[in-house]
Parts: sequence; C-alpha cells; structure tokens
Amino acid sequence: MLKALSLFLPFFLPIATSISIPPRQWQQSNGKACNNSPLLCSLSYGEITHLGAHNSPFLRDASTGFSSSGNQFYNTTIQLDSGVRLVSGQIHENDGEWHLCHTSCSLLDAGRVRDWLSEIKRWMDRNPNDVVTVLLVNADNAPPADLDAEFKAADLTSSTYKPPSTSMTQSSWPTLQALIEAKTRLMVFTTSLPSTSTPPPYLMNEFEYIFETAFEIVNPSNFSCNPHRPSQVHNNINAALTSGRLPFLNHFLGNEGGLGIVSPNIDKINITNGPATAGGTQSLGSFAQKCQREYWGRKPTFILVDYFDQGPAIETVDALNGVSEPVGRKPVPDSNSEALKVGGRPMREKGYMFRGLADLLEMVKSGSQPSLGNWIWVGGEWGALIGGGVAVG
Ligand SMILES: *[C@@H]1O[C@H](CO)[C@@H](O)[C@H](O)[C@H]1NC(C)=O
Ligand SMILES: *[C@@H]1O[C@H](CO)[C@@H](O)[C@H](O)[C@H]1NC(C)=O
Ligand SMILES: *[C@@H]1O[C@H](CO)[C@@H](O)[C@H](O)[C@H]1NC(C)=O
Repeated sequence: MLKALSLFLPFFLPIATSISIPPRQWQQSNGKACNNSPLLCSLSYGEITHLGAHNSPFLRDASTGFSSSGNQFYNTTIQLDSGVRLVSGQIHENDGEWHLCHTSCSLLDAGRVRDWLSEIKRWMDRNPNDVVTVLLVNADNAPPADLDAEFKAADLTSSTYKPPSTSMTQSSWPTLQALIEAKTRLMVFTTSLPSTSTPPPYLMNEFEYIFETAFEIVNPSNFSCNPHRPSQVHNNINAALTSGRLPFLNHFLGNEGGLGIVSPNIDKINITNGPATAGGTQSLGSFAQKCQREYWGRKPTFILVDYFDQGPAIETVDALNGVSEPVGRKPVPDSNSEALKVGGRPMREKGYMFRGLADLLEMVKSGSQPSLGNWIWVGGEWGALIGGGVAVG
C-alpha cells in the first residue's frame, strides 16, 4: 500500500511622453519600468504584489516526459520573461550535491541548485531594472555555508539584499528603485535554516519576514486567508499583520488521484488561476480581493500559483498593483507549438497519457516491479492506468 504522498511541495520600452505618469514617479524611475511598470518604482517592495511560480524548476514539459508532477509548463527564464517575480524550489541532497528535486530526487530531479541560480543570474543581467525574489525550501537541511556556496558559484551573492534587521514592517522594505540603484535586486528567503550555524546575512529566514496561508489544499472551498505558518501567528490575522510579516497567499490546488497520490489539479486551473471576472469565489482574482478587503486590509505581497501562465494569474497581480499597461513582458510560447507537443498532441490535453506512465506500464507488462519512485513519477494519472487504453506516441 502506498502511503499518502503529497506532491505539492512553484527590454525596456521607452515610455511615450503621452502616458500620464505623475512627475515624481517619472523622475524617480527615469521613465524606466521597475518590474514591468514605472508606477511600481517608488513603491516599497513589501507593499506591491509579486507573482510567484510554485516549484519553478519542476516542469511538465518534454524535459520531464511531461510529468504530471510538474507544477509549471514553462521554465524559470520564461516565467521571469512573462512577469513572474518570485521563483521557488525545493533543495535536496543527491549524491553529495545540492539539487532541486520534487519531493524526492528519484521522482523529479531538475538539476543542480547552482545551475538554476545561474539561469536566474543570466536573466537578471539582461533585465537590470527588475527585482527578483527566490524562495528556497531547504528540504534536506542544507547548511547555510553550502547554500552560500551555490549562490557564489552562480556569482549572485553581490546582487543580494541584506535586511538591516529581522524586525521589518510591511512598509519598511526599500522601494524597487532603491533596490535597483543599490544593485541589491535579489531577495532570498529560505525555509528552514538549521539553527546550528549563522547564515550569511542575505539568506533571510522566511518566517521571520513572511506569513503564509495554508498550502495542501485539494478542495477549493478550503482556500483560506488565515495565516497557517509560522506557528506563532497560526490562525491569528491580527498577530500576523502587527508582527510586520508580509502576507503570502498560496493559491494552488491539488488533485487526489487515488492511492493517496496528490498532483497539481490541471482540470480546475482556469478557475484556480483566473481573474475576478472568471467567476466563482475561489478564483485567484476573487480570492485575493477577499483577503484584501475582508481580512487583511491590504493586498498580498506574494501570490504563489501552479502553471503561472494559466488564468492568466498575472492579470490578478496587475489589477492588485494598479498596473494597466505593463511594459517589457513577453508572451509565453504557444503551447500548441510543435516544440511543446508530445506524441503530436498538445501537452495539456485532458486525459493524455504521459510518457512516464507508458514506461511504467511497459515495466509492469514485462513483469518487472516498479519502484515507489516510478509510481510517484506518474502520480495523478491513475484513472487512465486502471481504465487501460494507453495511447502514447
Ligand atoms: C526555457 O524554455 C525555452 C522554451 O522551451 C527554451 O528555448 C530555453 O532554452 C529554456 N531555457 C533554459 C535555461 O532551460
Ligand atoms: C476543508 O473544508 C471542509 C468543509 O468544507 C472541512 O470539513 C475540512 O476539515 C477542511 N479541510 C481542511 C484540511 O481544512
Ligand atoms: C481554459 O483555458 C484554455 C486556454 O488556456 C481555453 O482554451 C479554455 O477555453 C479555458 N476554459 C474555460 C472554461 O475558461
């Protein structure tokens, strides 16, 4: 019997002078956009909303055989190109190296942490007016010195922000413009850090600065604005806000596919990531508004979603930030393009049998016993497995 296993574990355009931007903001930003809008330059990092990609490196694309445990269709570079400003991943130890793995390295190994950080570095070099946040889930308790070594290997430490103290308030964070001018445009939060050694000052302990809503949600009616972590502010909105922590809205949905396997719910993604106009109280747009108006009296600083391009989630973030004309964003590649098809069929076609499952079925047919890792890899496609009818190109 398989034990329940959760697979959640995320160019500047010259601004035409006809656009009416108040002179102060215009001057501060030299007419340039910060995080896709000149309107955001003069605002505190903590007071705007940043779109986050849950498990950024864990992809449902050709590189993983279209694994149904992937949380994103597009890689970190495309995420950032398209407006995502918080990227997240889980760190696990694999053969003496620190890797980004989904739950376990036998399930989905997205490679070395330093290589992913280098991808982020290359993007930041190409986009010098953007503030990027990295959230690391330190699943195997990597010592801070080891994490530091990964950032050094990617030549990123000098771009990191070092908070003046742990007692920041929502409005005491620097403005985007200040972070950009100081060349400290990379914000790094980690959960958790072993208490045995002192981390380098840029490795911010997430829950000293942030409170998060619940994340292992499989029923949309269970989305909540209540603080879930850290425990000091659990279910206590007032305590969470007065502590100065930044609100972090987890808004991704799992699917219980049977046998206790939970994978990202792709069938409901349009609603889950949809703007307020998508209908239903559980869309990202409606839910963020609800938290803001009825519970927090302010907007979320971070919103974390699966399949960030769906919804599209960025519409909700732009609406919260009052941005109606984002600049410098690129559209995601066409998901129907040949490059993103598998077996000649679009990757998100419902009921599509993913590569990993076909391989697994072959193993079972040929009499070999798949490992737990193999079973988990294809988690979420059990109905099709039991129902037969495998059709993989
Ligand atoms: C990201 O994905 C695009 C489109 O598939 C691809 O062209 C690019 O090489 C990828 N970048 C990285 C760093 O993997
Ligand atoms: C989800 O909501 C249902 C009622 O709608 C409740 O019974 C259940 O305990 C909730 N689950 C969690 C994990 O909060
Ligand atoms: C869901 O999104 C896809 C494209 O991402 C679109 O083709 C489809 O019509 C949407 N469905 C609904 C119900 O909005």
